[in-house]
Amino acid sequence: MLYDNHGRLINYLRLAVTDRCNLRCFYCMPEEGINYKPRKELLTFEEMERFVRMVAPLGIEKIRITGGEPFLRKGIHEFIQRINEIEGIKSIHVTTNGTRTKDIIPHFDSWGIKSVNLSLDSLDPERFFKITRRREFDKVMESLNLLLEAGISTKINAVVMKGKNIDDILPMIELARDRKVDIRFIEEMPFNGSGKHDTWTYQQTLEFVKSHYPQMGKIKDAPFSTSFNYQIPDFQGSIGFIPAYTRLFCGTCNRIRLTPEGMLKTCLYDDGVMSVRDILRAGHSDEQIIDQLKGVLNKRAKDGFEAENKRKQGKPVSESMATIGG
Ligand code: 5AD
Ligand code: SF4
Repeated sequence: MLYDNHGRLINYLRLAVTDRCNLRCFYCMPEEGINYKPRKELLTFEEMERFVRMVAPLGIEKIRITGGEPFLRKGIHEFIQRINEIEGIKSIHVTTNGTRTKDIIPHFDSWGIKSVNLSLDSLDPERFFKITRRREFDKVMESLNLLLEAGISTKINAVVMKGKNIDDILPMIELARDRKVDIRFIEEMPFNGSGKHDTWTYQQTLEFVKSHYPQMGKIKDAPFSTSFNYQIPDFQGSIGFIPAYTRLFCGTCNRIRLTPEGMLKTCLYDDGVMSVRDILRAGHSDEQIIDQLKGVLNKRAKDGFEAENKRKQGKPVSESMATIGG
């Protein structure tokens, strides 16, 4: 089993399989996009698979496939199926913008995909366009419907921003009335290329929702949950609030991440603690790599604030979420 220096169990790996995306969500990327890394600097699927095979026996049992938009990378369908075959991997989860999923959703169950987080910040096509700078709203809604028809556990991730989508909060919640979809409201973080972000907090969203649904009650959060979860009586889906910037969930953080370039991150807010790509390509053995992994877990920051302070050259966070794995 993998534990860090603060006694936290690590059993969850997030794999950002690409930094590319066909949307331009303003909270994630500048309008002109980001400088995508050349292919040879990205981890290959073979390298990712080798890493997963190394860490599965150490207790990594949950994998999230994210990006960028993961379904833009060629070979991703086969990769997911290979990961699903690895002994010890109990569940695969996907974060997607839902624009390239229509035809493959029927396969998700057989590929081992246990749940999907769909990024969707507005139910209004014009506001969706203002936020994502692309006219793909209908495709995302189609994917949402297909996911629910297929019976796949689905959460909607909505970043809440003042002046952008506050008017969407209540319609989003209404989605969960008759459909089995969980809604998660996320605080905006400065991972967008500019380093700026909205100061609207999860508490403001929570108070706003409570004022409209006074009957909403707290439910038990799943172990390692990053959201505070609530239920409105007679609603099929739950409502969650993620303090992504306030960082209140670090005490039980069970996750590590690999960026598309194969940088290992032990916190969203650090700037990479070891290049898995470089040590793999330098020909290190599995044992050597595992030793190095244990080494960095022994020096893990206790929370997202410490991780941010320890960044090299003290550079504040501003890199695009697409280069980290949202
Ligand atoms: N702040 C908060 N959440 C973000 N995401 C992307 N960029 C940010 C940001 N700056 C989330 C999106 C999406 C996932 C990929 O990451 O909601 O669901
Ligand atoms: Fe693409 Fe997701 Fe970033 Fe939006 S938030 S630009 S969908 S990677």
